[in-house]
Amino acid sequence: MKTTNPLDQPKKFQNQLLKWFKANGKSYPWRETTDPWHILISEVMLQQTQVATVLNKNYFTNFTKQFPTPASIASASEQEILSAWEGLGYYRRVRNLQQAAIAICQLHNGTFPTDYQQILNLPGIGKYTAGAVSSFAYNLPQPIVDANVARIFSRIFDYQERIDTSTGQKQLWQWATDLLSHQQPRIYNSALMELGQQTCSNKSPNCHQCVIKTFCSTHSPEKLPIKKAPKKTKLIEEFAIFTIDPTKRILLQQEASTQRRAGMWKLPLREQHQTENLPLLSTSTYAITHHKVTLKIYQSPPQSLTTTIPQKNTKEQWFTTQQLKDTPMPSPFRKALNNILKDHF
Ligand code: ADE
Repeated sequence: MKTTNPLDQPKKFQNQLLKWFKANGKSYPWRETTDPWHILISEVMLQQTQVATVLNKNYFTNFTKQFPTPASIASASEQEILSAWEGLGYYRRVRNLQQAAIAICQLHNGTFPTDYQQILNLPGIGKYTAGAVSSFAYNLPQPIVDANVARIFSRIFDYQERIDTSTGQKQLWQWATDLLSHQQPRIYNSALMELGQQTCSNKSPNCHQCVIKTFCSTHSPEKLPIKKAPKKTKLIEEFAIFTIDPTKRILLQQEASTQRRAGMWKLPLREQHQTENLPLLSTSTYAITHHKVTLKIYQSPPQSLTTTIPQKNTKEQWFTTQQLKDTPMPSPFRKALNNILKDHF
């Protein structure tokens, strides 16, 4: 089939997308608001967390209720912000969000900036997020390139180069800029993203149903986009201890500021040999970046060497079950700990 280059008929390309989205776009809570702070929160959440996860547990609704304005998070404690983010993973994101809020308070009197360049200048906000907030909140004509948009353009233009290089990125942003609708940027950007999610999906693109198929020149969409091969998944094991004292307090360890989950508390980790003779309470697995972790939790009596000699550079403290609830803890540890308490104590 002969296809049209969308750059030759940008208006038609945009109109097909706009019309499709108006009939088929999903309604999400972040699409029901034009509050730039709330939209920023949604974009940061959706960067590394699936739409379904954000929706199922009401993370967006709860977070925007707890922190409705930049000022409300600017003065919150580390424990409060990490607890509000618990379960979403990649905890650095909520620290960045707080830094952006602090900058909005200091530089803009607490009012979210309305100018693209000022949004881009906020700490932790890159080109994608600045474009998303500008177009979704203010309907400003700014392009966005996320994984969905990258997939669509690389297929439409049958782009046979890697997209995760500066040349590849430049090309994608150029197409996004050239094809942007200046009349309806909010809906147009949402439409591109939605088409990538619903139709031009990663594993099973549904080309028959695609509203812009007449603009698409690839014959092998499933092979695009081209990226550097992902790192191989590594299997690792973690050995943690569960220790409860006579007053029912539990020993926890805090991740150091240099670690990826800085500030979060978990059951204390130990070397394998330190747990050798202890009873095994729980085995579970979880994924983190390119690791598949098997987490083994052993029971250790409160006065044993395993309990009293922590690993280097870590802080360990006792928590009552009441305090545990408000203590930010990575999900795999929270789940395992809840099961242990339910089954054994
Ligand atoms: N992923 C990232 N941003 C999104 C949005 N605004 N709508 C749906 N999915 C998204």
